[in-house]
Amino acid sequence: MNKTLLAQTARAMVAPGKGLLAADESAGTCAKRFAAANIPDSEEMRRTYREMLFTTSTMKSTISGVILHDETLRQKHSNGTPFADYLNSIGVIPGIKVDAGTRELAAAPGELITDGLDGLQKRMKEYFALGARFAKWRSVITIGESIPTARCIWANAHAMARYAAICQEAGIVPIVEPEVLLDGEHSIDRCFDVTEATLRTLFAQLGDNHVWLEGTILKASMVISGKDAKNRASQAEVGARTVECLKRTVPAALPGVVFLSGGQSDIDSAAHLNEMNKLSGNPWPLTFSYSRALHFTALKVWKGKAENYKAAQAAFAHRCKMNSLASKGKWTAAAETA
Ligand code: 13P
Repeated sequence: MNKTLLAQTARAMVAPGKGLLAADESAGTCAKRFAAANIPDSEEMRRTYREMLFTTSTMKSTISGVILHDETLRQKHSNGTPFADYLNSIGVIPGIKVDAGTRELAAAPGELITDGLDGLQKRMKEYFALGARFAKWRSVITIGESIPTARCIWANAHAMARYAAICQEAGIVPIVEPEVLLDGEHSIDRCFDVTEATLRTLFAQLGDNHVWLEGTILKASMVISGKDAKNRASQAEVGARTVECLKRTVPAALPGVVFLSGGQSDIDSAAHLNEMNKLSGNPWPLTFSYSRALHFTALKVWKGKAENYKAAQAAFAHRCKMNSLASKGKWTAAAETA
């Protein structure tokens, strides 16, 4: 294991004032988002969309790395440069989503398991050769009446730990992402308990599978009320409870924690991260790794039309700046409209 390389990559991913751009939507997810914005879907449209994001000027100062889809890692900037080389040239680390998506976990109604371990060792070698220096694996934990079960949490944690060990052998920093879904009417307390159980099991599995924590990044969901909850916790409470939960479960050896936005609004995603970073004494850098909360607004501005390209880049640049401020605890609601 090349610990020097892993530690160097992991530290750079959570460099002060920067976060990750999640642009690893599958062709299927892109098709849905494009349809919502009336954009015709094709491989070239997806390439053009990603080029629009990657060539936005604020990338250099606010984005440490980009999570790419397999298709994008093999695509090129319109000037002929492979995207991975282009990103490296502006000081942004290329990363790759390697899981194969979720399916129903057998004999566990309503619960999901993530596929993708088969052949992963071979794929990792290729991804390293293509320039990827970190990877992502997303597991999904659903809150419902009698779920998640301990079996679902364990099965997902075990798969993530096996993936993480494979990444590190290949010189690639694993992002482990156990997403506790926002869907449901549950309270913030219920989300806290489920997130705590999930993270406890995950870190036990990482230990059992010899994953080197100093070369690992956690991508967490926030501790937050369910989307349809009657009484929603305040932004300050989401920040405080999320940090409380992480402090209980995440070893200080970890170089950093990044967050997904999970369907929260642009403003909530920035405000919640900001609340966490206003607290003093956090053991790790806490930053963003958003997809929707960084660039869904830009997609809707772009609409697939050349005449909207600059305006869409401006919308994306704004979200980059807002979340960069939030990663330092310096975001304000006033900054959104300034
Ligand atoms: P969202 O920020 O849209 O939740 O996406 C982040 C991500 O990478 C999910 O795996």
